[in-house]
Amino acid sequence: MMMGAKSAPSLASVSASIMTSASNSTSKSSSAAHITVLLNEAVDALNIKPSGIYVDGTFGRGGHSRLILSRLEKSGRLYAIDRDLAALAEGQAIQDARFHISHLHFSEINHLASNNNLTKVDGILLDLGISSPQIDEGERGFSFRFDAPLDMRMDQTRGKTATELLTTISEQQLGKVIKDYGEERFAKQVARAIIKERTDGRAITTTGQLAKIVASAIPKIEPGQNPATRTFQALRIYVNSELEELSLILPKCLNLLAEGGRLVVISFHSLEDRIVKQFIQGEQNRDDLPARFPVKAIDLPQPRLKAVGKAIKPTALEVKQNPRSRSAVMRVAERTAIA
Ligand SMILES: C[S@@+](CC[C@H](N)C(=O)[O-])C[C@H]1O[C@@H](n2cnc3c(N)ncnc32)[C@H](O)[C@@H]1O
Repeated sequence: MMMGAKSAPSLASVSASIMTSASNSTSKSSSAAHITVLLNEAVDALNIKPSGIYVDGTFGRGGHSRLILSRLEKSGRLYAIDRDLAALAEGQAIQDARFHISHLHFSEINHLASNNNLTKVDGILLDLGISSPQIDEGERGFSFRFDAPLDMRMDQTRGKTATELLTTISEQQLGKVIKDYGEERFAKQVARAIIKERTDGRAITTTGQLAKIVASAIPKIEPGQNPATRTFQALRIYVNSELEELSLILPKCLNLLAEGGRLVVISFHSLEDRIVKQFIQGEQNRDDLPARFPVKAIDLPQPRLKAVGKAIKPTALEVKQNPRSRSAVMRVAERTAIA
């Protein structure tokens, strides 16, 4: 069942968490597989009640969603969100009365709640970042492996493309984006080269053009890694406001989770993980006042979340089977009774 969606291309439905199609290396398209990261760990962490209501804020190709559905009874519900139309189409192919998918940005989770008359839910899952089909389908413009228009939007129905953003960003801001989001030590040189291309009158319109500019600006190339890797990652995070989306949704989850409800977040970047970790710690340690502060313990703000266990990383076996899981970190928190 699909709610609030715009028209989308149709995709063949799949029955497992791994979707595969023929792989090739043309400029148009390649493999469209997504191997779900921390599949069992994340769904176990949700502590599913069979009649509960759950939100998968990052449906992707539905690996986590399908496992959640398998643990729900008839009265259980799963509301999925994705900002990507191809992911939405995948979700629409699921014929299950317990399942609804919405084309939203997850920071708009309040719309999901009001559109579906949800006051409280029993668990929210966020598996952040990008899906493999987004990277592997060359025409989406996320990858330097294919020459394609430089788009990089997960939601191609709104927002500015990477090309558009590169026409106005200042050299200083671009350098900061590439340094902070890409952890690129030659960020200044890369930003300078990109802005020079622009001031020389050449708009940066393709992935191939950008990859070449980046390669020309990097004096020392790491073996085994394309020199454009870090810059492409940084621009993707910037184009999709990924850190802002995360910062916006977390406090909203707090309001939507029922007592005992779980928040499960899988991050792939240290900046994302820091936001999640600090949010959970901040909600857990609300009595973090100076020693001998003249307030009675009972009057101190009480924790609204409690962390469940420590951060979880994929096993060596999972990383071997799916190298894209290597930077994943999962954090889990449970909603307390405090309003
Ligand atoms: C890592 S994939 C999720 C994979 C999924 N768990 C699975 O098993 O197939 C991330 C997905 O979240 C979506 N996404 C990322 N940020 C989003 C946001 N702010 N709002 C909605 N969807 C988002 C992406 O479009 C992508 O499809």
